[in-house]
Amino acid sequence: MNITWLGHSSFLLQLASGQTMLLDPWLEGNPSAPKGFHVPAVDTILISHGHGDHIGDAITFAKRDGATVVCNYEISLWLQSKGVDKVSPMNKGGSQQAGSVTVTMTHAFHSSSMLDGDKVVYGGEPAGYVIRLADKRSIYFAGDTALFGDMSLIARLYNPSLAFLPIGDLYTMGPREAAVAAELLGVSQVIPMHYGTFPPLTGTPDALRELLEGKGIGVLELEPGKAMSY
Ligand code: NI
Ligand code: MN
Repeated sequence: MNITWLGHSSFLLQLASGQTMLLDPWLEGNPSAPKGFHVPAVDTILISHGHGDHIGDAITFAKRDGATVVCNYEISLWLQSKGVDKVSPMNKGGSQQAGSVTVTMTHAFHSSSMLDGDKVVYGGEPAGYVIRLADKRSIYFAGDTALFGDMSLIARLYNPSLAFLPIGDLYTMGPREAAVAAELLGVSQVIPMHYGTFPPLTGTPDALRELLEGKGIGVLELEPGKAMSY
């Protein structure tokens, strides 16, 4: 598969099956989004929670491509009220097939709401996802979260090899917490996200790398817009 970072917590996954997925799509107004990047036709969109820096362009791509949006129940109702036809709601602990992959919604310690005009709308609970690929590998996308001990259950149940972890600090984990997260998850590689977008998001991949030194866990620092084969 190919993984392309679109800046912040947005990723484009192009699977071996031909399926194209977006995780937490936010390009419009995202300072770290690759300039002029063309997002190919999208089949599946995963949303971790309702904050604008994660859901920002979900409606755009859902409508442009008729993509199916996987999200919590509350966000699915809100998206439908905005004219998104294909939603596939779920809740934590559950799994469902999304094209060629199985997605499991996991816990996240954060908040979730949508800004709708000048109103704040309840966005259900924030979540993360385990994505189990057709080739049996699994990857974990944490969304926005604090560190939590039950990440060890994610390791036990799904054995992910790769984790997408927020490291920016302030609104999510910083490198200190993310290093422990990576150990609890038992992954061999981490893709850091949710850092550097704005000055207050101060965590860096170098800081995470230093904390993980000697632990056998690699830090993959992606460049926005450049695909990485995984
Ligand atoms: Ni958030
Ligand atoms: Mn966020």
